[in-house]
Amino acid sequence: MGKQGINILKLNVKKLTKMLNAALSEEWLAYYQYWIGARLMEGPMRSEIEPELLVHADQELNHAVLVVGRIIQLGGTPVLNPADWPKFSRCDYEAPNDPYVEIILQQNLKGERCANQRYKEIADFTSGKDHTTHQMATTILNEELEHEQDIEDWLTDLQRMKEDLKKIRQ
Ligand SMILES: [Fe+2]
Ligand SMILES: [Fe+2]
Repeated sequence: MGKQGINILKLNVKKLTKMLNAALSEEWLAYYQYWIGARLMEGPMRSEIEPELLVHADQELNHAVLVVGRIIQLGGTPVLNPADWPKFSRCDYEAPNDPYVEIILQQNLKGERCANQRYKEIADFTSGKDHTTHQMATTILNEELEHEQDIEDWLTDLQRMKEDLKKIRQ
């Protein structure tokens, strides 16, 4: 972005690029969390949930594309080394050691809640001060909220299925 474009922003651009680099690191970790989890997953509703998790993974990657574009526009340097992702990220990456569907979904759910918090903070920080980043953050936030809802719905369905099976056995 031109110097004028940066100068008209009424906020601390350095602080903003730091927040965006944290978000970028979180997106890459979320991408891999979804992608590897989908590959390994076992259990009920797998054939239904697996492709949806891969859709979420693609959307996380698209968020990374948006965020990296904005960092560059702001004159910042996007995180260059994957070894820095866990250092910049506030969201934990949890290795899917147990491939059971509910465990995988819980890991992804934690990531979504962490992402919601991140984009809410970026949206708050840029509100009325940097319309471009604000618009991007709210767009991403809406998708993260949809992801959270999808996962909660699958967990509810799985719980329901378990309860129905218990009733049949009684
Ligand atoms: Fe995301
Ligand atoms: Fe997400």
